Amino acid sequence: MGDRFQGRVAIVTGAQRGLGAEFSLRLAAEGASVVCADIGSCEQTVGRLRAAGYNAVAAQGDVQTKAGCDGIVAAALDAFGKIDVLVNNAALYGGISIDGFEAIDEAEWDRMMSVNVKGVWQMTRAAVPAMRKAGYGRIVNISSNVIFMGKPGFLHYVASKGAVWAMTGALSRELAGSGITVNALAPGYTLTDATRSMSTPDVVAALEKNILESQSVKRLIEPQDLAGAVLFLASEAAGMVTGQTMTVDGGTITG
Ligand SMILES: NC(=O)c1ccc[n+]([C@@H]2O[C@H](COP(=O)([O-])OP(=O)(O)OC[C@H]3O[C@@H](n4cnc5c(N)ncnc54)[C@H](O)[C@@H]3O)[C@@H](O)[C@H]2O)c1
Repeated sequence: MGDRFQGRVAIVTGAQRGLGAEFSLRLAAEGASVVCADIGSCEQTVGRLRAAGYNAVAAQGDVQTKAGCDGIVAAALDAFGKIDVLVNNAALYGGISIDGFEAIDEAEWDRMMSVNVKGVWQMTRAAVPAMRKAGYGRIVNISSNVIFMGKPGFLHYVASKGAVWAMTGALSRELAGSGITVNALAPGYTLTDATRSMSTPDVVAALEKNILESQSVKRLIEPQDLAGAVLFLASEAAGMVTGQTMTVDGGTITG
């Protein structure tokens, strides 16, 4: 698979399942030691990685809290002594309500901002000191292509991912000169447990039909389709790329 990440240590949040599990596997397959972090258990993800002969540990923590993020960083430093890569992937996504903006539950709105926006800040704040010390770091934030589409039905999610895009630019400037780059991935609709359980099978099938029509590439996106972009942004080769958001959505958004 290659050894681009040999000797590198990566933290991936939201690694219990879905995209986070895939990014963990792909980083490990290219040599990284991976800290799989989630509010839930990552034992299954870590088990898969170890069974393949890769280095991985699980860290349970809530990215909304300073204590949770400090705990994840401490687990990384205890296990591997440094942090080169942080993939801010954890988010409130699976199970969120899809409805008109007037119907959004206020508590869900607040939780969305807390996990998806504050979580990126808290986790970045916790990981950056180790990166600064080493003079090297790659931060990849997971946003979404819905921020460019005016996608109706989940205004709180769209707003939170727009904030991730905005934070990516601002953080890239604040960290300029420290050897740390900050970029984002904006994926299109991707087949994961979260999207499969979004609604009834009929509603999901209709949604997927619309998505396919909107894409230039006429195939639904799988988690593997996103990993190449994340790994590039997380790699040494991307040293001159910072403050960017890369859209990987089968050509729904162009330009
Ligand atoms: N699947 C898609 O179509 C799609 C498209 C665009 C962007 N995204 C984004 O990609 C990422 C992963 O998506 P997914 O489909 O795998 O979703 P998912 O809901 O399956 O995964 C999210 C993970 O984050 C974890 N998490 C939630 N709250 C947390 C917290 N407070 N602290 C730590 N971990 C927490 C969950 O336990 C879960 O494992 C998310 O940021 C999502 O917004 C997904």
